[in-house]
Amino acid sequence: MEVKSNDLRVRLRTLTVEDADSIAEHANDYDVVYNIAELGLFPFPYKRSDALEFIDSATRALIDGTEFHFGIVLNDTEELIGIGGIKNIDLKNRKCEIGYWIGKKFWDNGYGKDAVSLLLHVAFMSLSMNRVYATVFTFNERSLRILKSLGFTSEGVMRQSVFHVDKFVDDIMLSLLKSEYKPTAKIEISTDD
Ligand SMILES: CC(C)(COP(=O)(O)OP(=O)(O)OC[C@H]1O[C@@H](n2cnc3c(N)ncnc32)[C@H](O)[C@@H]1OP(=O)(O)O)[C@@H](O)C(=O)NCCC(=O)NCCS
Repeated sequence: MEVKSNDLRVRLRTLTVEDADSIAEHANDYDVVYNIAELGLFPFPYKRSDALEFIDSATRALIDGTEFHFGIVLNDTEELIGIGGIKNIDLKNRKCEIGYWIGKKFWDNGYGKDAVSLLLHVAFMSLSMNRVYATVFTFNERSLRILKSLGFTSEGVMRQSVFHVDKFVDDIMLSLLKSEYKPTAKIEISTDD
């Protein structure tokens, strides 16, 4: 499965075992891991075996339709620079959570925003979700900036929600509703079959 747009510089594609080295290279970075979730939920140090385990579980979840995890790939070079995913899919209430990360050397080029735009297209247009949400640490300014620029509303701060490394930290819950979703690019989804 591939999600792409001529208007964006990255695309999303299904993961394969050949992606293990790139994933491990970019994910094995404290600045990436520190911003995602409490340590332990996301491995650190992040080894090739962690990447293989992730690819295996992501592939099985994709077949089952329970979660969708994609490689974020540069259109120009085909290089895998990060991962974007849709999880906690609640079909009854038509809501889901998104998560994403990009290797640090690629930050601040607009790739994160492009990748989230592609995830939103999958969530709203392909999976027919009504609500997409994300939780972001209050100190994660890049991620907050992306979500706010794509129209997400901050619903509130979950105070001291996570014990992170050595202290309790706050998490912000943000959401975007289908009625608020304004696509900024023409996006196509293609499947392998
Ligand atoms: C969050 C993350 C995906 C952003 O990726 P990215 O490719 O750097 O994102 P973009 O370049 O599209 O956007 C970053 C925005 O933050 C802005 N920014 C950069 N540094 C900033 C700062 N210190 N304060 C506020 N905004 C900042 C950039 O200017 C840009 O905004 P703009 O497009 O309006 O100018 C990436 O930093 C990352 O992977 N972080 C670690 C993992 C993570 O945090 N995942 C998300 C968990 S919720």
